[in-house]
Amino acid sequence: MENDVFLKFNSLFEIPKDLIYLDGNSLGPLPKGAAKAISNVTHNEWGKLLIKGWNQSGWMDQPETLGNDIASLIGAKRDCVTVGDTLSFKVYQALASAIQIAPKDGVILSDKGNFPSDIYVANSILKQKNLPPVRLVNTDSLEHEIRKGDVSILMLTQVDYRTGYVHDIEKLTNLAKKEGIVTVWDLAHSVGALCLNVDQHDIDFAVGCTYKFLCGGPGAPAFLYVKPSHIPKIEPEISGWLGHEFPFKFDLSFVPASGIRKFRIGTPPVIQMAALKAALAIWKKVNMKVFRKKAQDITQLFIEEIESLGFDLELISPRNPSLRSSQVSFRTRYAYEKMQALIDHQVIGDYREPDIMRFGFNPLFNNESQAIIAAQKLNFIIKENMWKNKKYTKRKLVT
Ligand SMILES: Cc1ncc(COP(=O)(O)O)c(C=O)c1O
Repeated sequence: MENDVFLKFNSLFEIPKDLIYLDGNSLGPLPKGAAKAISNVTHNEWGKLLIKGWNQSGWMDQPETLGNDIASLIGAKRDCVTVGDTLSFKVYQALASAIQIAPKDGVILSDKGNFPSDIYVANSILKQKNLPPVRLVNTDSLEHEIRKGDVSILMLTQVDYRTGYVHDIEKLTNLAKKEGIVTVWDLAHSVGALCLNVDQHDIDFAVGCTYKFLCGGPGAPAFLYVKPSHIPKIEPEISGWLGHEFPFKFDLSFVPASGIRKFRIGTPPVIQMAALKAALAIWKKVNMKVFRKKAQDITQLFIEEIESLGFDLELISPRNPSLRSSQVSFRTRYAYEKMQALIDHQVIGDYREPDIMRFGFNPLFNNESQAIIAAQKLNFIIKENMWKNKKYTKRKLVT
């Protein structure tokens, strides 16, 4: 462990001692720098400058400045990523834009592993436009469906939130391009976990959130990437005042800004942006190739440790590390109760319906020893029937 290049990152996060946090794929822990940044923006900027903060502290430029930080994490050029709102909004904007530029009328294709919010948002747009709902297919029939000739947009989340399965983004995008299909990728579970290259892969639109692996904080703003050559062609469908070329002219008709700024909607969440900026400063120091390899090694060890216990825990994440993100999921009976008991024993993972125990690993604050200890604790909980305690049966709002 001495030569663990990520050891130096551990102290940058606020994680209670003796707690093994394996849920950074859902909500990243607090970067200490983010706590300082929040204190600074509240006390020194908002507190002292008041409204002058918009001009003097760079608040108004945050969607673009942070967008450029995100751009380097997803392999995008500068000035084609904007940050703000929640991911569901960004999915709306990306899909509504994709519909505008799609060269043919056709269906929107997605798979059953996609995150429900993306499907709900897509179907609400399609309903408004009197178009047929999203065609949802099994993941293994995607290639066949893409080749059918009646698809205009491919909308996928690169990593399956339940299993951690990673779609072959390059292959599917290439296939879609050949068929004249516009691509919309949700990178919520990829950014801060995988090596990404949206520009090289010629992706049309990408979106993602920043509160998972990136550690931007609960409710941190999301991002939208638009392929540079598409930006001038698109009329933003949620035309907020800050997407106007001159918002402070208070013009009653909307004139879209010329660049990525046209996809802004309203006022940036300044305090959340400050926290995110501090989190992104950490990512600037991370070599993603080395990081990815480390995450693969830790998840591999965790799988081996859990499987050696011999309990009824069925691995539903891919065994092949290149098809698996930084998350490992097992199907088991009483998964909710077992996870609650594990959390009570200082190992935090989470539960997903109907029977999934999910564990996320981020090498910036997780390591091999934690993987071994977490497996040992799960062994104890199952062997000693700890999870049968009635207190673990009551479902909480967030699972
Ligand atoms: C893949 C994916 N898409 C969309 C969402 C919805 O994001 P938000 O709640 O920020 O709108 C999530 C939330 O976890 C997600 O994981």
